Amino acid sequence: MIEPARILVAVGGGIAAYKVPELVRALVGQGHTVRCVLTDAATQFVSPLVLQTLTGEAVRRGLLDVSEEGEIDHIRLADQSDLVIVAPATADLMARMAHGLANDLVSAVLLATRAPILMAPAMNVNMWNHPATQRNLELLRERGVLQVGPESGELACGWEGLGRMAAPPSIVSAADRALSSGSLSGQCVLVTAGGTTEPIDPVRGITNRSSGKMGFALAAEAARRGAEVVLVAGSTSLPTPEAVRRVDVGTALEMRAAVLQELEGATVIIKAAAVADFRPREAADRKLKKETLVESDVMSLELVRNPDILEEICQIKGERIVVGFAAESHDVIPAARRKIERKGCDLLVANDVSRSDAGFSTDLNAVHLITPDGAVEDVSLRHKAEVASQILDRIEKIRGEREA
Ligand SMILES: Cc1cc2nc3c(=O)[nH]c(=O)nc-3n(C[C@H](O)[C@H](O)[C@H](O)COP(=O)(O)O)c2cc1C
Repeated sequence: MIEPARILVAVGGGIAAYKVPELVRALVGQGHTVRCVLTDAATQFVSPLVLQTLTGEAVRRGLLDVSEEGEIDHIRLADQSDLVIVAPATADLMARMAHGLANDLVSAVLLATRAPILMAPAMNVNMWNHPATQRNLELLRERGVLQVGPESGELACGWEGLGRMAAPPSIVSAADRALSSGSLSGQCVLVTAGGTTEPIDPVRGITNRSSGKMGFALAAEAARRGAEVVLVAGSTSLPTPEAVRRVDVGTALEMRAAVLQELEGATVIIKAAAVADFRPREAADRKLKKETLVESDVMSLELVRNPDILEEICQIKGERIVVGFAAESHDVIPAARRKIERKGCDLLVANDVSRSDAGFSTDLNAVHLITPDGAVEDVSLRHKAEVASQILDRIEKIRGEREA
């Protein structure tokens, strides 16, 4: 059960504002006190009177309006909120938030508030993909702004792609999560991320294309939910998420040693790293010279099998929840079902790495969540932060079922 909270809904001037009355109704229905603030542009897309009637609270629109400011000033609005939802978060509003502008009521309140902010972006796909918007998004995420959507599909502007505002029930669920932050408090989540690099000599190695983005998103979300998080990171250039303890490793053997060392206190283990199955039998301690090595045009490298860390952990996991990842390029679900049976983990996240729009290196992912009974839940294409959120929801559900 979510405790009744004071939620401020900041409405931006996008076409998706027509969905805000439904969102507001659902929030009021949950027992929350909801206030709305609108940008000038937003008043063209949704009626302030409708929002005022649904919330039973005065709606504010202007920053420099004597009577509105007299009734409830903008700093009190910012202070007296437990959560601020920005819906729709327009490209313009995201830019103002990212750069700390305060030249209208909504951006001033967003700058002044100390409450968590949850934004639901919505815009044309090209506006969304523009480097300016993507950079603003990164800045906002780095600062801890929460995000739900956008989703992919047919857009009001006639284009197809990412940019549709998350449906009101999804925004309500994200708000529930934001308000119940701490849902993983007391848990210690161990996440592995990135690829391993198996040295051939001091300057060469065998690695893979994993960027670490999925594992880092999982670590960030678990920390946001109040867990103590240890992130064992292979090769990646990503910054460490806030409130996460990071252990850097190079090879699969180093990753295994770090995981075993951190295992003791962990209650949840998420193995999102792409670990090399094989390594060169011997790594030369000096750089191999082309001339001395290759007499013909063929060079052979002898590889030996690396330990299977997931399998090893599953054998000693006890009460811990263990989540594995499977990167498959074909027959994704049957292969993933075989893998979960073989390994004995509690949840398997199957990635289709043959897609060009998801998986390795991209910001987006589409996965299938597979449980030991073979059941499959599809998570359609969305930002990795959102996929992380759904995976952690699933882990929390498994924990809840066990406790029950
Ligand atoms: C019909 C129409 C629909 C629009 N829809 C969107 C939208 O979905 N997302 C967006 O970022 N901007 C959209 N815009 C542009 C914004 O209204 C404009 O950038 C405005 O400055 C946003 O102001 P605000 O961020 O203060 O609400 C739309 C404009 C028009 C005329």
